[in-house]
Amino acid sequence: MCGIVGYAGKSLAAPVLIDSLKKLEYRGYDSAGITVLGSGIETYKSVGKIVNLEAEIPKKLGGNVGIGHTRWATHGRPSTENAHPHNSGKPGKLSIVHNGIIENYLALKEQLIEEGYEFKSETDTEVIVHLLHKHIYGKPEGNEVKCGLLDGLREALKEIEGSYAVATVSSDEPGKLVVAKKDSPLVIGIGNGENFAASDVTAFLAHTRDVIFVDDFETAVLSPEGVEVFNREGDLLNKTVEKIEWDFEAAEKAGYEHFMLKEIHEQVSAIHSTLSGKVSELEGAIYLEELTLGDDEIRKLSRVQILACGTSWHAGLLGKYLIEQIAGIHCDIDICSEYRYRNPVMEGGTLAIAITQSGETADTLAAVREIRSYNCPTLAITNVVGSTITRETDSVLYTRAGPEIGVAATKTFSTQLTLLYLLAVKFSLVRGRSSPDYVKNFITELRKIPGQIQQVLNQKEIIKECAENFAGAKNYFFLGRHLNYPIALEGALKLKEISYVHAEGFAAGELKHGPIALLAEGTPVVAIATRGQTYEKMLSNIKEVKARDATVIAVADSKDTEIGKYADVVLRVPPSDELLAPLLSVVVLQLLAYYTALALDCSIDKPRNLAKSVTVE
Ligand code: G6P
Repeated sequence: MCGIVGYAGKSLAAPVLIDSLKKLEYRGYDSAGITVLGSGIETYKSVGKIVNLEAEIPKKLGGNVGIGHTRWATHGRPSTENAHPHNSGKPGKLSIVHNGIIENYLALKEQLIEEGYEFKSETDTEVIVHLLHKHIYGKPEGNEVKCGLLDGLREALKEIEGSYAVATVSSDEPGKLVVAKKDSPLVIGIGNGENFAASDVTAFLAHTRDVIFVDDFETAVLSPEGVEVFNREGDLLNKTVEKIEWDFEAAEKAGYEHFMLKEIHEQVSAIHSTLSGKVSELEGAIYLEELTLGDDEIRKLSRVQILACGTSWHAGLLGKYLIEQIAGIHCDIDICSEYRYRNPVMEGGTLAIAITQSGETADTLAAVREIRSYNCPTLAITNVVGSTITRETDSVLYTRAGPEIGVAATKTFSTQLTLLYLLAVKFSLVRGRSSPDYVKNFITELRKIPGQIQQVLNQKEIIKECAENFAGAKNYFFLGRHLNYPIALEGALKLKEISYVHAEGFAAGELKHGPIALLAEGTPVVAIATRGQTYEKMLSNIKEVKARDATVIAVADSKDTEIGKYADVVLRVPPSDELLAPLLSVVVLQLLAYYTALALDCSIDKPRNLAKSVTVE
């Protein structure tokens, strides 16, 4: 989740861009850069926070038009070369900043290299600026303008598959910048003799509150004098200028009260982003190019060992179920702090998978170092490009969820799960256990998930009411069977973390072996009862709970007419493939925890005693 900014006005562009980028730092910052149109294209880049970039920029840098970027790496490690803006032309003629993912960048890159374009970075973005150059100047050393910046950008973007919000400037068209958007956010700020573009309004809220939200496939030209927005066909549009009433803090959270709530909502786009470029419905194929394990090695695997902590461990537990059930490979999971000291028995043919949102958890890093001493291949699933875990494992799969600021993990959990589904199905396909037809159907169902999560989010008022009704409870229990068991554990953890209410998750079948003694009249018991192979058994467990006068809050699918006979409250999810239902149920539980903590007036984004990433053992 990078941030882009653009400025065209009367002031010096560099300080305005730097100030705007600082406001976007919450979107992630591993490197940053700006281009100012001064005597030509003048680009400055730096690794780390925006203050590092600021220190690089000459105090008297001229130019009233420019673009800027704060990067949160998805392709290529954090480095000055990979930082944006990316330029093309000799001498530099064009400069671009980009937020999003170009799915077909490898094919485009090969083609452009063949045509003589030189790439300086490992990013997907650099293909856009060379493509743009090709449309405007015809060839790498071309100087003659064949079309304007706006038309060139529109043509270049026609060749691109994926998501983008881009801002670009040309030394042949000083005094303006051109922006475009598809599936990544972009907003224009209308000032007095100056105009702004950015990934979100926080970037320019200090200058103006009058904004135009750019829609997909629209392009816009910004100059100090005005803003023109065009549709896909190139027709000039009469867009509404809206007034932003939020203060800065609210704007940073896109109007949500907490980052956690924003991140719960972002799961729709985050899962989309995780899947981007990794699945083909048409071919029934899954592409995990980052996986260094070849098909032969996948076929020879006899065991998978998952290592993780906290929420990532819950994702791993579900991963174990998936890898065994779908791929038919024996899979163990360990809590990292336990793994190191239990003298594990290791055998050949084991793949180790470390799951860690931050990539910095000390226990996870130590467990990975331990398992590496057995010489087995290692794979990391993480959200942070360039984090320590990425240097400690043979392969890395990135969740691409964007930075998660709320301490309680939400979108990183569901995107970890998404990758585990893909791994299990990929292994199954390679090992001849599933057919491409099965994979096609699976991908069709998986692609429905973001839309179905949106349907769950649309019912948040019902979940809020339920949370408020039970907010006074001293103990909460969460029950699930099979794939819903890890979700029960995660639901309980979310509630504990942010509302400080005692909550326990149990395998529903274990209830009768002890925990049932804890049930009292009115104790809220959340039972995850989506349709599947253990549904009937789950109903029996619900009856056991009801017989002890506890109160049952069931999570069930919207077509289930039976559950209402047994449960006191039913929270609904759309009917989905049984395997994928956890991705929906967990959203209900995240919202339940969130609204409980809200009702109890807890510090939601920064719960007491917890850290986002624990870098000590
Ligand atoms: C901390 C966080 C948890 C997280 C765990 C593992 O305890 O508070 O939310 O699940 O670390 O973090 P990781 O970055 O390795 O996924």
